[in-house]
This record gives sequence, C-alpha cells and structure tokens, in this order.
Amino acid sequence: MERLHKVMAMAGVASRRKSEEMILEGRVRVNGEVVTQLGTKVDAGKDVIEVDGKPLRFCEPKTYVLLNKPAGFVTTVRDPQGRKKVVDLVRDLPVRLYPVGRLDYDTEGLLILTNDGSLTHALTHPRHEVEKTYLALVQGIVQPDGLRCLRHGVPLEEGVTAPARVRILQRIAGDTLVELTIHEGKNRQVRRMLGAVGHPVKSLVRTKIGFLTLGELKPGQYRHLTADEVKRLRSLANGFNKKARTSAKRANNGKSSIQHPAGRPPSRIATARER
Ligand code: URA
Repeated sequence: MERLHKVMAMAGVASRRKSEEMILEGRVRVNGEVVTQLGTKVDAGKDVIEVDGKPLRFCEPKTYVLLNKPAGFVTTVRDPQGRKKVVDLVRDLPVRLYPVGRLDYDTEGLLILTNDGSLTHALTHPRHEVEKTYLALVQGIVQPDGLRCLRHGVPLEEGVTAPARVRILQRIAGDTLVELTIHEGKNRQVRRMLGAVGHPVKSLVRTKIGFLTLGELKPGQYRHLTADEVKRLRSLANGFNKKARTSAKRANNGKSSIQHPAGRPPSRIATARER
C-alpha cells in the first residue's frame, strides 16, 4: 500500500504537493468514492483511482515535451472558466501529459510537459533551485535603484524573494525590456517583483529553464526532449546545478548570457516595440 498522493505522482499526474492539493479539492476518487483525506493509502494494483473522472494509467511510456506556450492558455488541466488549455496543444500524442509547474494565462514561453511524476517533483521542488529566465516588457524606464532592489530581493507578501539576476536589454518608447533570472517559483513572481519596484509587466515570456531554451519553436509548437536532455534535466533538478550556477555567475560577472531565440523579442513584445 502506498499513499494516494505518491501514487498519483508516480502516474505522472502532478508533483506530490500538487497531488495533495488535488485530493483536498475533491478531484480524486478511489473505487468510486471521493477521497479528501491526505495520507489515504491505496493499492495501485487493485484500487480504481480516478482524477477528474479519468482513471490513472501507469504503464504509459515516459514522455517529455518542450512547448512554447502561447499567451491565452491556462496551464491547469481543468479550467472552470472554460479557457484554452496547454494540454490541448499536445492532444495528438498518445499519452496524457501534465505541465511541470505553471505559467500565467498571459505568459508565453517555455513549458515542459511530462507524465514522469518524479521529474516533475524534482523540477518543481523549491529546494532544487532550477533557474528560469524571463523576458519582460515593463512600463517605464527601469532605473539603477530598481535593478539593485531586484538583485537584492524584493519584499512580497510571503517574504523577501531570493536575489534575481537582471539586466536591461532595451528601452522601447518609454518602456523597458528586461531579462530576469530567478530560481524560485512563487505565484506570479516575476510580475509581482517588477510591479513592486514600480514597473508593471506588459508582457512576459519564459525563455529558459536550466539549459533548455525555446530554440526555433513558435508559440503553440512543441518538440520532444532528447534522452540526453532528460538526463541533464534530472541531474540539474537533483541539485547538481548549484555549483555550475556559482561558477557561471563568476564567469559572467553576474550577467546573464541568455538571448531570445533568433535574436528577436517575442511576438507580443515585438508588437509593443512597434508602437
Ligand atoms: N512569473 C510570473 O509572474 N508569471 C509567470 O507566468 C511565471 C513567472
């Protein structure tokens, strides 16, 4: 017998933490009964476990996909408002995939989808500190004080953020295109950090997770990760990235070397630039 949230994570539904939330939300049935008790034990070989009305499947081949999420899609697998979902963009695959972490409805960019619950868990665990890089078009001209604040940590409701790596890429008609790298995953973190220093975000694109970049993928397109990429991601998530990050930072003198694929800003940012 195993705990229900662990079995769900093994089947690739979501990380263990997220699976617990799903149980509390009443989305999980065991043998036809809704279970909301955390710690419930199940026999994955015998019990019929359903999430959102669909039975768990255990023997699907592990699949890893890198999607360029378009703006206007939710990363949740259910949406009470009936908005478009990222999982619909990989519907042609013969397996059920789940997003690793989340991106806001309005945010575009790199999102991993997989049915490998252990990788999801490793990548989304705050302790593992996988870096994510974003391009943000913000209102106003970001001043040195704002940069200093972002680099030191910004006080948010739930505490001060860890220092971000940040640099200005371009000033565009009274707005600023900023590149920001963080390793935490607080809700709407980038928008809130930039908002807190006086620069509301007009559009946001995630360009990088660890060593993975968007490459030539256009919004809505995806590709499979290679076996080598999956292996590298796993070791990154398991904590081997800290040392690499420290030495990269030293070599970079604190500056990021990320560029937007094809040297152009993302579609919505391009639109803003044209104004
Ligand atoms: N930070 C945000 O504010 N939004 C995202 O979608 C991702 C990170």
